[in-house]
Amino acid sequence: MNVHKMDAKEMIIYWYERHWEAGFVKWWKGYETLALHDGYHEKGARSFEEALLNMNDFVGRLLQIEDKKAIILDAGCGIGGTSIYLGNKYPKAKFIGITLSKKQVKLARKFADERNFNKNTEFYLMDYMETSFPSNYFDGVFALESISYAPNKKDFIKEMHRILKPGGRIIIIGPAIKKRLNDFMKKVHLWYNIGRGNPYSFPVLNDLIEYLKGYFSNVIVRDISRNIVWSEARATLIAIPYVVIITLKKFFSKNYKIWKDPHFYLAVAILTPIMAISGTAGYYAITADKE
Ligand SMILES: C[S@@+](CC[C@H](N)C(=O)[O-])C[C@H]1O[C@@H](n2cnc3c(N)ncnc32)[C@H](O)[C@@H]1O
Repeated sequence: MNVHKMDAKEMIIYWYERHWEAGFVKWWKGYETLALHDGYHEKGARSFEEALLNMNDFVGRLLQIEDKKAIILDAGCGIGGTSIYLGNKYPKAKFIGITLSKKQVKLARKFADERNFNKNTEFYLMDYMETSFPSNYFDGVFALESISYAPNKKDFIKEMHRILKPGGRIIIIGPAIKKRLNDFMKKVHLWYNIGRGNPYSFPVLNDLIEYLKGYFSNVIVRDISRNIVWSEARATLIAIPYVVIITLKKFFSKNYKIWKDPHFYLAVAILTPIMAISGTAGYYAITADKE
């Protein structure tokens, strides 16, 4: 595949399909947790693996499904980890995961066959900007570290609002920009996004809140940057040898294309402390309800 000629969607798919084994399986407890997100550290979830799974519990708590029959959308489901986990925890609920990647759908279905004891998960190849679900269909929708990949954050919210039932809840978890970026920080964010196969960017927190308020009520924003800081620290440490490797490759190879190098995406985690210390990005859990 010619990376130069890829369109935005292809870039996202290419990135995720290339990095499952080399990144998540190798460094992120991929098979153990099926997580493509940060760990949520708190009391009772101290190890990295516990924290990765605890992020799923956190989503479950925000969904407030408890013992109810509910249909939940996992918008940008990765390999299905959160839906499979919550499907086992909430047997009366049904979880439907969608993603752009065929490989992820295949893996999610395979893992669901092996691990979803209640058989209450389904996974489909679908764009969350333009789903084929009927209006007023879901009781809850969650986007766990996936809204950054939306070409237009407002249109994403509009589509989620359409498919949610009245009384349904949207949950958005992930990084957001909290302060205006100067030219240097614009570059830092750009490099990070390219490294993560993202042709777009983190949402801007204030814009996101405004868009949500335009469609939903009861918008609650929780700053959970401290809960994920250990995951980010881990990613930063892992990045160090890769930064050395790609620097050497760049130095010794004439035709080296940094962004084609699979090691580049592991290296860009070195930028996260800059984003955090500059105060330009934080990590949030936002909920809102459809009236
Ligand atoms: C960082 S991963 C998070 C995966 C999962 N939520 C988790 O926490 O393990 C982002 C996911 O969003 C998906 N995604 C990105 N853009 C999408 C779109 N337009 N429609 C559906 N899924 C999308 C990617 O394919 C990927 O599965």
